[in-house]
Amino acid sequence: MLPSRLDPVAPTDPSSTANPSFHADPRGTGWITFDDPDRQLNVLTEEAMRRLGESLDEARGAARAGRIDVLVIRSGKADSFVAGADIDAIVGIEDPTEAEAKIRMGQAIFNDVGSLPVPTVAAIHGACVGGGLELALACDYRVVSDSAKTTLQFPEVMLGLLPAWGGTTRLPRLIGLRASLDMLLTGRGVRAAKAKKIGLATAILPAAIFDSKVQDFARELLKREVDRRGGRLKHLARAAERSWPGRKDILTMARKKVTESTAGHYPAPLRILQILDDHFGGEVEASLAAEARAAAELIVAPVCKNLLHVYHLREAVRKGTGVADAEIRPRTIAELGVLGAGVMGGGIAHLAAQNDVRVYMKDIRHEAVTSGLQHARSRFDRVVERGRMKRREAAQRMELIAGGLEYHGLGPADVVVEAVVERMDIKQQVLREAEQHIGDQCVLATNTSSLSVERMAEALERPGRFCGMHFFNPVDRMPLVEVVRGAATSSQTVATVYGFALALGKVPIVVGDGPGFLVNRILGPYLNEAGFLLGDGASVEQIDRVAKDFGMPMGPLRLIDEIGIDVSGHAGASLHEALGDRLTPAPALAALAGTKRLGRKGGSGFYLYEKGREKGVDQSMYEALGSVPPAATDFDEKAIRTRLLLPMVNEAARILEEGIARCAADVDLSMIMGTGFPPFRGGLLRFADTLHPRSLLESIRELQEEHGDRFEPAPLVVTLADEDRTFYEAFPDETHE
Ligand SMILES: NC(=O)c1ccc[n+]([C@@H]2O[C@H](COP(=O)([O-])OP(=O)(O)OC[C@H]3O[C@@H](n4cnc5c(N)ncnc54)[C@H](O)[C@@H]3O)[C@@H](O)[C@H]2O)c1
Repeated sequence: MLPSRLDPVAPTDPSSTANPSFHADPRGTGWITFDDPDRQLNVLTEEAMRRLGESLDEARGAARAGRIDVLVIRSGKADSFVAGADIDAIVGIEDPTEAEAKIRMGQAIFNDVGSLPVPTVAAIHGACVGGGLELALACDYRVVSDSAKTTLQFPEVMLGLLPAWGGTTRLPRLIGLRASLDMLLTGRGVRAAKAKKIGLATAILPAAIFDSKVQDFARELLKREVDRRGGRLKHLARAAERSWPGRKDILTMARKKVTESTAGHYPAPLRILQILDDHFGGEVEASLAAEARAAAELIVAPVCKNLLHVYHLREAVRKGTGVADAEIRPRTIAELGVLGAGVMGGGIAHLAAQNDVRVYMKDIRHEAVTSGLQHARSRFDRVVERGRMKRREAAQRMELIAGGLEYHGLGPADVVVEAVVERMDIKQQVLREAEQHIGDQCVLATNTSSLSVERMAEALERPGRFCGMHFFNPVDRMPLVEVVRGAATSSQTVATVYGFALALGKVPIVVGDGPGFLVNRILGPYLNEAGFLLGDGASVEQIDRVAKDFGMPMGPLRLIDEIGIDVSGHAGASLHEALGDRLTPAPALAALAGTKRLGRKGGSGFYLYEKGREKGVDQSMYEALGSVPPAATDFDEKAIRTRLLLPMVNEAARILEEGIARCAADVDLSMIMGTGFPPFRGGLLRFADTLHPRSLLESIRELQEEHGDRFEPAPLVVTLADEDRTFYEAFPDETHE
């Protein structure tokens, strides 16, 4: 692949292997170049920071000797600047005093950038993230390339941290409070044009001749005064931010928003706000000290450790292939076939086209094809409305999707995903027919959410190239894809579907064939127990509030409304049939499944809905259950929490034992990506591992004594208690390459 920068002469010192390295060119420009020979991206490891300190000393010496009159900090990588601090190093830190000292050292090095006797320029092409952006902020000027790859971002908050090498202090001083809160509190990045607009970048330069334009910019600087900020806050807005009441207003509103969206579970954004409250407009040094202290406390706290754990799980999935054999590589997918142009088929077609994959959708009715295309179009409209794609581009992508009633269109497909009605006989027939029309290398996959992949494969001549590819609804929003491996599925098939899911921007997890696969099976007893709690006299409000207080995005009864009371009832019944008595539907849920209450789509369920928006609990629902609305606080909240969470842990233990999940990490990432299980807890089993294995067993046994055998401890829970081992110890993550 050609680098996007075509400069004939890169201003590096070829004799230097240090990273970063300093080099003075004959025109008097000094260059500090980051180019880690051992990594794809430049990372600010301890060694790189030490070398940066040395390079700055060299630059200072060169400036004093009159050999340079301006310094540029740049990257030697083709498409990225500096990707931030070394996350692996953060994971191991347990002592806040040690953390604070390390952060202060980093700050001191970045302060050195600002104290050089010559102007400094950060030349940013590609990703400029975290510590990379803090380095850029320590410079006098920031110029960015016009490449789409150029993004400036502080993702720290997403890892439970805050930018502590001066980012929290310098960003608001440069671009104002409001714009900086947008970046600091959300972790969202900005592209070149936005960076210029908000005053983060001084200038935008063409990517193709970036280095020489940077050189021109640096020389020009010396001739005339250039405003450090590219854009400028309107005078009045800046004055308002500087005034004490104006600042208070902005921070109070931001705090309110953060508290609402995080329910207080994530401390980092609140710490950021506190630092700005105490120090914005005040001394830089005091602000830096507060940054370091806050970050040191956050680094050693469980929320940050859990978020880093989830980050690592995601990275492992992103780098993996889904199979243990390192020789097997996924095949590239350029053409996709979709069988069934319904809600899921249309959604999958849209997702594929959005990612440059050509699609042929086959159905048995013209109207279905038309509505599948319409569904895909409506998804593109949403992307356009959100400003993520230009209308013309969306129209071009839409043209990648064709549809019809014939199988012939499947001929060129590399993968065919089946998404027809949920019936074994129909699916087997459709797959058998499709198999006659596809190429030798083409992989077949089913999007079934409840039927056996292995039984379905019995209809095929070549079951080795068949597996499950279970997307969740809505396809464009739910990140998880369960790749279901049947007994006959080949590793090549798994790797190809796994790679395809990654290419679509999804998080694939390989699971075994079994009722409800992984996520729906664990959700089954959780949702069912909410029904039992309701029957035992807990209110809808209280049950859902306890789940939300734990960190779930919505309570279990609200979730049943979302899934549809009918659909959830069917799923519950099929889990009951497959797994036996412990999944006997709770009487309250069974009673509602037979009524016209369908949940959100029908306007009423446990809650009432107007135009799809929830309007509070529907008290008349209790009548359908033959009960009266209970007082909202009657029930013991700890009991609700235990009864909701432990059945999930117990079911996850069975899933591990049966080999449906390969490791504890797969359970955790699936639940986070498939149900929104709170990331700050690190995952279901990581949470379970914080309880002692013996007390976990005791708690489940107590529930069994009180409520019956649906709480019978899974054999694995008993074994782990005997052996005093955690889930992560017993099922470590060894399969991700
Ligand atoms: N809807 C969900 O929430 C969801 C989530 C995950 C998985 N799934 C699974 O996805 C599959 C499809 O679900 P859906 O909600 O999109 O259903 P849907 O009813 O919206 O669409 C099914 C489509 O299949 C078509 N069809 C029926 N027989 C066919 C045949 N012989 N050949 C070609 N097309 C045929 C129908 O005309 C219809 O357009 C099911 O297996 C379902 O379990 C659904």
